Amino acid sequence: MEKVNRVALIGTGFVGSSYAFALVNQGIADELIMIDLNEKKAMGDVMDLNHGKAFAPHPTHVRFGNYEDCKNVDLVVICAGANQKPGETRLDLVEKNLKIFKNIVDNVMASGFDGIFLVATNPVDILSYATWKFSGLPKERVIGSGTILDTARFRFLLGEYFNVAPKNVHAYIIGEHGDSELPVYSSADVGSIPVLKMIERNEEYQLEDLDELFTNVRDAAYQIIESKGATFYGIAMGLVRITKAILRNENSILTVSALLEGEYNEENVYIGVPAIINRDGIREIVELDLNKEEEEKFAHSAHVLKEILAPHFE
Ligand code: 2OP
Repeated sequence: MEKVNRVALIGTGFVGSSYAFALVNQGIADELIMIDLNEKKAMGDVMDLNHGKAFAPHPTHVRFGNYEDCKNVDLVVICAGANQKPGETRLDLVEKNLKIFKNIVDNVMASGFDGIFLVATNPVDILSYATWKFSGLPKERVIGSGTILDTARFRFLLGEYFNVAPKNVHAYIIGEHGDSELPVYSSADVGSIPVLKMIERNEEYQLEDLDELFTNVRDAAYQIIESKGATFYGIAMGLVRITKAILRNENSILTVSALLEGEYNEENVYIGVPAIINRDGIREIVELDLNKEEEEKFAHSAHVLKEILAPHFE
């Protein structure tokens, strides 16, 4: 019999239910178990999503569940927790969400779960580290969504700027998923032509414009939260992208939050970096050749995260 791919989703708020919708639409998993403190909401989502089964490319079985159901799943995706209110930063959520995560991760582990965690809740780098610590699982099997969305936002905007499809733009945002993140211009390319070379060759293109695009990437969530209260479609699609890389054993390179142990001259911190993702989780961290300025910015971003972690994890 073929292997059944099972995913448990914890937290069926805006991000969680959008993830479930995108997952079912793309037909990535065989079974999706919806878990939420608000059981009524999760049950409603289950019914609603199953009604779409007739239109989906693959029949994902969506069902309501609880923590005990995590025992046999391949992947637990956590979207639960408080989210940013207008004006709040992601880091403002630390205290509240650490408490919520201790409870969630303890409950998942008590089920006998032995798969991969994918963490989306903010501050995602801090909560990925916490999930790794609380679960005791190997670092490869705790993945944060990190800067996958920031990288997608950047590729979208660069694509518009150069008038090229975003899938032909390779450019990473690394560091904290938050205010201290940075763009890696030094290795950004459009169809193998370095972006810095394109700027050099064509005076229509300016480095200042790229800086402006990056500022828009960094501050996109504030803008979306200001206009509609929360962000969810983009991150949900990013989470499905990571899910697919895992369940289909893709060995795809995605910018996720991963534990560094010497890579990029950092250790003991979860932070957004490109990494090779497959069925075992994080196979390998990809070390980009950063220039001096990028190195400094990355070190600063890691420092910001470590300062937040320090009082909670001695
Ligand atoms: C985002 O970047 C709020 O982290 C969320 O859309």
